[in-house]
Amino acid sequence: MVTAPSKTVERLSRYRRWLEQKVAVGVTNVYSHQLAEVTGGTAAQVRRDLLEVGCSGNYRKGYGARQLSASMGEFLDHPNYARVVLMGVGNLGRALVSYFAGRRLNLRIVAAFDANPELADQVLHGCPCYDLTRVDDVVLETGARLGILAVPVGEAQKAADALVAAGVQGILNFAPAVVEVPDHVYVENIDMTMALEKVACFARLVGQKPDNDEGRNMMTDEVESILQKHPGAKRDSLIAILQEIQESQGYLPREALVRVGRHLKLPLSKLFGVATFYNQFRFQPKGRFHVMLCRGTACHVKGSAKVLETVMKHLKIEPGKTSRDRLFSLEVVACMGACALSPVVCINEQFHAKVSPAKVLKLLDECRQQAQAATVAEKK
Ligand code: FES
Repeated sequence: MVTAPSKTVERLSRYRRWLEQKVAVGVTNVYSHQLAEVTGGTAAQVRRDLLEVGCSGNYRKGYGARQLSASMGEFLDHPNYARVVLMGVGNLGRALVSYFAGRRLNLRIVAAFDANPELADQVLHGCPCYDLTRVDDVVLETGARLGILAVPVGEAQKAADALVAAGVQGILNFAPAVVEVPDHVYVENIDMTMALEKVACFARLVGQKPDNDEGRNMMTDEVESILQKHPGAKRDSLIAILQEIQESQGYLPREALVRVGRHLKLPLSKLFGVATFYNQFRFQPKGRFHVMLCRGTACHVKGSAKVLETVMKHLKIEPGKTSRDRLFSLEVVACMGACALSPVVCINEQFHAKVSPAKVLKLLDECRQQAQAATVAEKK
């Protein structure tokens, strides 16, 4: 039974790791604002999270560090220790066995499996390896209820099926593939390629140059006047400030984020981390034509995915991005409240009903022609 949202569990796990370090160096009390820094959240969110584990702090003394760590342990851990089996003893699988060996007493990889008979029948850091045909009986013998997938993408579903059939209830999936499992099985996907792409994207955004001096000065004044409305603001005000800046600029320019960071005394990397977590924020200016596509249920059923794919291919941009010529920007939204017209596409606030891939290409072409006509008229 799920007792807390997955994001809350993720944050609790990060709080605990930080707390363990503090307890180890003799810290006795911690405060919600310190824990907030660990996840880039707010003190109010920390207090809500800690109520999940039955802990409430004291305004003056905060939380007892040792007791808080123990309460989190009770909430997060298996009463004895969680037994985990690993599918795939390739480079990643071996690294995982080595990483977990002796690291956490409450989480142990108790067996590993591989299709390659040469990799089976060995012992890695105390973890016995078996042939894939042994999954059922070894899972039963060890009482493992958790599994890790570290297999090639083509073998992921088969390996997940074998784990589920053997009675595993939670899977950590390192394979870059979506695996189908029954409702009672929880899957956490770790897509390392996507994570690395995200790092590359952050690095690029952090290094972006402002457009030009005139635009920069205007933006700076507007951002300054927004920040002046929040004197002495703390991290709790971050989202509200970013929303105001986006409202005034249409996106979040890098320069503006630098200023917000200085104002709130937060590093730029943390700001990007929080801002990119929310779909509502953009990091590039909108194009001359802002194309919004709906991915709500009604539109999805009527084929909006194909329309989106067509737009992405045609404009060579992903949602949240602007084309190089600044003509088009693309946004995907959950529902535009016009389900009867699905699939819906909205271009510069004008709705277009029952849009097919061919129709959307025609619409984009019309936008281009409009832009060309406007350029010609300007030159005259
Ligand atoms: S689902 Fe697309 S408009 Fe409602």
